[in-house]
Amino acid sequence: MAGLRVQTLIFVLVAALAILDRTFVEANFDKNFIVTWGKHHIGTTNGNLRLVLDKSAGSAIRSKVAHLFGTVEMLIKLVPGNSAGTVAAYYMSSTGTAHDEIDFEFLGNSTGEPYTIHTNIFAKGKGDREQQFKPWFNPTNGFHNYTIHWNPSEVVWFVDGTPIRVFRNYEKEGVAYPNKQGMKVFASLWSADDWATQGGRVKTNWTQAPFVAEGRRYKARTCLWQGPASIKQCADPTIKSNWWTSPSFSQLTRSQIDRMQKIRSGFMIYDYCKDTNRFKGVMPPECSKRQF
Ligand SMILES: *[C@@H]1O[C@H](CO)[C@@H](O)[C@H](O)[C@H]1NC(C)=O
Ligand SMILES: *[C@@H]1O[C@H](CO)[C@@H](O)[C@H](O)[C@H]1NC(C)=O
Ligand SMILES: *[C@@H]1O[C@H](CO)[C@@H](O)[C@H](O)[C@H]1NC(C)=O
Repeated sequence: MAGLRVQTLIFVLVAALAILDRTFVEANFDKNFIVTWGKHHIGTTNGNLRLVLDKSAGSAIRSKVAHLFGTVEMLIKLVPGNSAGTVAAYYMSSTGTAHDEIDFEFLGNSTGEPYTIHTNIFAKGKGDREQQFKPWFNPTNGFHNYTIHWNPSEVVWFVDGTPIRVFRNYEKEGVAYPNKQGMKVFASLWSADDWATQGGRVKTNWTQAPFVAEGRRYKARTCLWQGPASIKQCADPTIKSNWWTSPSFSQLTRSQIDRMQKIRSGFMIYDYCKDTNRFKGVMPPECSKRQF
């Protein structure tokens, strides 16, 4: 009898902790992803990922579960040599017409020309918020760390620990913010040579296929999306284990902002907020507000 009571007590304790600790961790391509395109083009072993593109197909995977807030990181080595026309993508997205999405995309280039690191964000189906950077390192000769931090107040894109972009929550000012839909994690490699490289002028050279991009040390530490109840629970700053709502996670330090500004002034090659022609002078409202 005593044994049973102890067991019950332990069970109740574990259940209570599981409810209190909403953090969900996934860290393995084999266990946590499914292949959505190009089964014979994808290899996953011991948490490593190999995405292949040739003339017959590209390759794509997505996480099994969806997340609402947290941090998602992956070390990526992009296609070496002539990657013109190819696009490697690593992003989070919900589904449906009014979907949310946070993007890293890597646009290939001819041998010796720089990759483009492309970022974008959709909220309630609205995107058109591209910012692009040329890398300040060689993204094809080793693995680099691409991380998305996402919490109720801002989204931050990091490259090798340096923040490069922030999208703040201006919901009160009428700018939609991704905070009501769980997003799955996606990774893919495909050819988009009608637009990707130098405006579509440089095409994929298929005689140089297969093109290969690699991923490593995927890690998602997030609030697990469990349906609409998560909207309130994952955003609740009074729940202690919601570390993604804590000020230390939500705010960049002075030195991080300094480093970001150096990268943005030296390596940003496109900013939607500066593209007055595109928006015919009516700039998106967040562009005139504090960005970080
Ligand atoms: C990747 O970068 C993130 C954000 O700076 C950092 O928290 C994380 O520890 C880094 N991961 C690795 C494996 O270096
Ligand atoms: C490719 O290289 C050209 C020339 O350096 C550069 O203008 C362009 O931004 C690079 N990236 C892409 C994706 O075309
Ligand atoms: C494609 O690559 C092959 C093999 O390297 C090369 O001989 C050919 O000139 C390339 N084609 C173009 C259009 O650059």
